[in-house]
Amino acid sequence: KRIAVLVSGGGSNLQSLIDKVHNTYGEIALVISNKKSAFGLVRAQKAGIESVYISGKDPDYDKMVMDLLEAKSIDLVVLAGYLKIVPQEMVKKFRNRIMNVHPSLIPSFCGDGCYGLKVHEKAIEYGVKVSGATVHFVDEGTDTGPVVMQKCVSVDGDDPKSLQMKVLEVEHEILPAAVKEYCLGNIRVEGRKVRIK
Ligand code: GRF
Repeated sequence: KRIAVLVSGGGSNLQSLIDKVHNTYGEIALVISNKKSAFGLVRAQKAGIESVYISGKDPDYDKMVMDLLEAKSIDLVVLAGYLKIVPQEMVKKFRNRIMNVHPSLIPSFCGDGCYGLKVHEKAIEYGVKVSGATVHFVDEGTDTGPVVMQKCVSVDGDDPKSLQMKVLEVEHEILPAAVKEYCLGNIRVEGRKVRIK
């Protein structure tokens, strides 16, 4: 399978895909970022993967992304630390073929404006005993699509930063695992339910 990864930041999730999936279960054919300074672009370049920066402010951003995905015959889009909303046209065209990783156990601590450290601040504030990461397919909503994989971590005396680090570790496990299962053709989606053979 041909994979495109969209990033906005450090790209540690991209790196886990490069290390665990690229040229073994699938091929990362393209990395796109809306942020010129995204270290994810450097990680792609170091891995010899085509990387493209498109200004998130460019009025043609959405069309340029869609054209690139088409031109590179992308099968699966992975949002890895990507902070732009996916246009509805793309959600429809890539129904159940866009995966996102979110740093909480959806449906907790997610939705509009809940990303990055804020997710962990809310979890700590709430006083949860477990948190974790979720990989889900992207649908028309924000963090609302069918759940593919989740993995939890204990929350015990953590502050938001230490919790973020714990959760990032399990993100680096379940995102490549979910993409690998997709590439192996082991994922079936029935309505909201995702079955992995
Ligand atoms: C992290 O907060 C992660 O939880 C979320 O995006 C942020 C950056 O991830 N998915 P990355 O290091 O850029 O992959």
